[in-house]
Amino acid sequence: MDLQALNAVAEAMVAPGRGILAADESTGTIKKRFDAIGVENTETNRRDYRELMFRAAPAMKYVSGVILFDETIWQNAADGTPLVDLITAADSIPGIKVDKGAKALPGFPGETITEGLDGLGERLAAYYERGARFAKWRAVIDIADGGVPTWGAIKANAHALARYAALCQHHQIVPIVEPEILMDGAHDIETCDRVTRLTLQTVFDELFIARVALEGIVLKPNMVICGKGCPKGASVDRVAERTIAALKATVPAAVPGIAYLSGGQTDEQATAHLDAMNRIGGFPWKMTFSYGRALQAAPQKAWSGKRENVAAAQAAFEHRARMNGLASLGQWQAVLEKAAA
Ligand code: 13P
Repeated sequence: MDLQALNAVAEAMVAPGRGILAADESTGTIKKRFDAIGVENTETNRRDYRELMFRAAPAMKYVSGVILFDETIWQNAADGTPLVDLITAADSIPGIKVDKGAKALPGFPGETITEGLDGLGERLAAYYERGARFAKWRAVIDIADGGVPTWGAIKANAHALARYAALCQHHQIVPIVEPEILMDGAHDIETCDRVTRLTLQTVFDELFIARVALEGIVLKPNMVICGKGCPKGASVDRVAERTIAALKATVPAAVPGIAYLSGGQTDEQATAHLDAMNRIGGFPWKMTFSYGRALQAAPQKAWSGKRENVAAAQAAFEHRARMNGLASLGQWQAVLEKAAA
């Protein structure tokens, strides 16, 4: 393992002004997105959609890396160019989702364990060969009645994340370590805070035991935020302050950067929260985005599967990516206020 090289990739992924595009929707998940815009879920449509995103040079300026799904990393653009080459041509780093999804955890009703460790070493070697320099594994932690999440589910998922991360580093791939506390439900921000702290603490315990070098990872956490159904809500500043406090208490300073998931926040909320955190500052890591829905909702709607809408979709992507690039610098609100003046 060349830790210096891993660290250089991790630093590039969280370079100020840029962030990560999570375009790794599984075939089932992209179907849901395509259904919403009336697009048939064919391999060609999936390819065309991803191609229009990766060819959007003005947007890709703000995209340090792209997380791909297995199908996409092997696909070629309409003219035969590998899609990974479009990403590197945009000075962005190809990455790959390697987990095989969250499956029911036996003995723990309502909870899941993320699968995909068996044979992972060989898959990582093949992905590296194809150009991937980082990977992603998502653990899912739900908050629900009846004592969910349980300690057993948190521990099992943290252990799997650590084994994945160690395998990645062995194969010279930077692991994105993603423990996601879901926003589903009506829990308040305090509950999210408590579960986030417990989960992150457990994940870093397991990473330490697995001998993962923290200088060569990127953490992809949820923000500390209310559940979608919580009647109280929380202000942008409160989310920012609570998130920073929870991470400061649990995430070692050796980690180069934090790249948040959007998790069902609206585009604007996800940008505003990231911006507020970077305005507050005072933490040892870079903080940026690794958004899926919050980056792609607008371009998907603008595209709607029509060739004549490609330019409009790319413009929508550029706008959102630029706003999030500003948020990674804590400059979004100031630019917005200047524009309104
Ligand atoms: P969202 O930003 O849509 O939550 O997706 C990010 C991601 O990669 C979740 O695993």
